[in-house]
Amino acid sequence: MTLSHHLLLLGVLSLWHCSADSADPLGVFCNKDAKIGSQKQSAYIDGLSVQLALKASTNGFVAISYGSGQDFVHGLAQCRGDVSKEGCSTCIQDAAKQIRTRCPNEADSRIWFEYCFLRYSDKDFIGKVDTGFGILYRNGDNVTTETERFNEELGKLMEKIRSQAVEPQNAGLGKGQTKLSPFVTLYALVQCTRDLSPLSCAQCLSIAVGNFPNFCDNRKGCRVLYSSCYTRYELYPFFFPLGSAQRFSNTQMMMVYP
Ligand SMILES: *[C@@H]1O[C@H](CO)[C@@H](O)[C@H](O)[C@H]1NC(C)=O
Repeated sequence: MTLSHHLLLLGVLSLWHCSADSADPLGVFCNKDAKIGSQKQSAYIDGLSVQLALKASTNGFVAISYGSGQDFVHGLAQCRGDVSKEGCSTCIQDAAKQIRTRCPNEADSRIWFEYCFLRYSDKDFIGKVDTGFGILYRNGDNVTTETERFNEELGKLMEKIRSQAVEPQNAGLGKGQTKLSPFVTLYALVQCTRDLSPLSCAQCLSIAVGNFPNFCDNRKGCRVLYSSCYTRYELYPFFFPLGSAQRFSNTQMMMVYP
């Protein structure tokens, strides 16, 4: 995928707090080419959403198929791996509610929050890598000193946590930090959806991190959200357990359509 697919760059600078609640999603994708075909399918999607919300908080992940006969819908919900059970439950319930309001007529819908992701479709997507639709956020501010070293350390940290993420016992999650100076620490987290094989996870993360030198070149922070994986780095702690420093940042966002 190349950056020429970018359709939309929202240059709006917004304040984003690192402990933001889950009221507003980071992004929503309602696939206009997959309209809900029948009352029955609509009812299955409702039923599926309830099941996703019920089951995801137990261990932070659920993938299920719901329906009967030939009319199955498939769904997946997952929380960021560092989020508490309560935080996960709240986020997924909110996601299940909002996705139906935001994509009322689509049978293929996805919603991203900072703490969770929820998706359903009339096609079986479980276990398949999807980097077609992407949401990118970057800090409006640049790293201005020792950029070469910053990029080198960022590369090393990403490599380290990507190799964590593909180890089966880590359930798709990798996170870590690197001290750049006595006062500056780089934090990063990557996560694949847990239905992916290690190979598919590695593939998704590689594509996600591939956006860093382009959209996020030298930026103080960057997030890439796909349907199959999440990557983020910041110069402040953003994953749990949170350190004391909470910062505001200028955030710019872009959506990439397949
Ligand atoms: C950061 O760098 C980019 C690319 O050089 C530039 O367009 C942007 O204005 C810079 N941001 C700030 C806040 O200086």
